[in-house]
Amino acid sequence: MENGFAPGRLLIKDIGYLVGFGKEPLARLSGGEMHGLPVIGDAWLAIEDGRVMDGGAMADFPGIVDWNGLEVVEASGRCVLPAWVDSHTHLVHAASREGEFVDRIRGLTYQEIAARGGGILNSAEALRAMSEEALYATSLERMERLMRMGTGAIEVKSGYGLDLESELKMLRVARRLGALDRIPVKTTFLGCHAVPAGWNSAAEYTQYMIKEVLPAVVEEGLADHVDIFCEEGYFGLEETRMLLEAARLRGLPAKVHVNQFKASGGVPLCVELGAMSVDHLEVLAAEDVAELSAAETIPVALPLCSLFLDLPFTPGRTLVDAGCALAIATDFNPGSAPSGNMHLAAALGCLRMGLEPREALAAATVNGAAALGLSSEVGGLAVGQEASLMLTRPLRSVEEALYAFGDPIAERVLLRGHWLD
Ligand code: NIG
Ligand code: FE
Repeated sequence: MENGFAPGRLLIKDIGYLVGFGKEPLARLSGGEMHGLPVIGDAWLAIEDGRVMDGGAMADFPGIVDWNGLEVVEASGRCVLPAWVDSHTHLVHAASREGEFVDRIRGLTYQEIAARGGGILNSAEALRAMSEEALYATSLERMERLMRMGTGAIEVKSGYGLDLESELKMLRVARRLGALDRIPVKTTFLGCHAVPAGWNSAAEYTQYMIKEVLPAVVEEGLADHVDIFCEEGYFGLEETRMLLEAARLRGLPAKVHVNQFKASGGVPLCVELGAMSVDHLEVLAAEDVAELSAAETIPVALPLCSLFLDLPFTPGRTLVDAGCALAIATDFNPGSAPSGNMHLAAALGCLRMGLEPREALAAATVNGAAALGLSSEVGGLAVGQEASLMLTRPLRSVEEALYAFGDPIAERVLLRGHWLD
């Protein structure tokens, strides 16, 4: 090493507010705990080899013993927040769908557009026609954009392939993004996203996914989870049960699209089958909330989708008051949420879901990590966790981070110990 210095030692001093520091990573924050997201005023943080080494209040700063290879950043009151954890994206897709955006402005609904062959099937057609290399290049560009916005871990779903080869192509691209080691990338097999033309029923298509595609996905080690769009007009409770049981036998836990348009028993079913998360939940019945309050299953709200499609917002306040470890993610996809902006998603958690800023931050970091089984690695800045963080512009308080809802807050982003340009 140049000058014999050890690589990657960084000290951030005089931090206005340091969020997410602790001696041990938090597994999740549930209900009333969310407001207690750790915050230290006037703080320091030490990083080595891409991991958090130590930190605390400036009043207890032990001083610098070893200056070798040490980069010192004077935060001058700027805040340090953990990088966002985006636990639900469809980042791998072929192309945007702004034509449908215009159709909706002119009065068509999302479901009407889908019924005319737009929607997911439109994206599937474009994806099948695209080479793996081109899909990889466009997906990498998107991932880098998210990283520059302060996202430090993502989940990526398949579901625009809808046949064996194209689903494998999507998941291979997602795995290649993860293999770059820039940020953690978890993958989810969503073959049951829509029923393509040529199938007689959702049940028949689901059997094909279970018998032909799932085994190939597992064989090649391409997925960490399974997902299905459990919704009227897409896949029903029977298909959901069959797929989740088959996936569980092959070691894949479930993260399920459910209750986007209707509450029809999907949430209790997913809880019964031990799903890791249930995502969307724009429409929730009282019994769904009761089930979730007593379950390990994490509810994931996707407020950018509600904003973009003009749907109800997930009742975040109700879920937190019921004791749930609510997470917030973007749902980044070309049809219902063409944005990977976690800052905006978290701010909408306050503006439209009734969360206080600290609760929304917890939902978009610690609980996002829990929804991906990545709690020991990301979501906070505890000793041993990945040094992935945002150094903000000067903020007067932690609350201001989400009060400033449309403007970027990160002046610099550090991911796994590396500053982005
Ligand atoms: O999470 N609801 C299902 N799937 C996506 C949208 C997919 C699309 O429109 O392309 C979602 O909203
Ligand atoms: Fe989604």
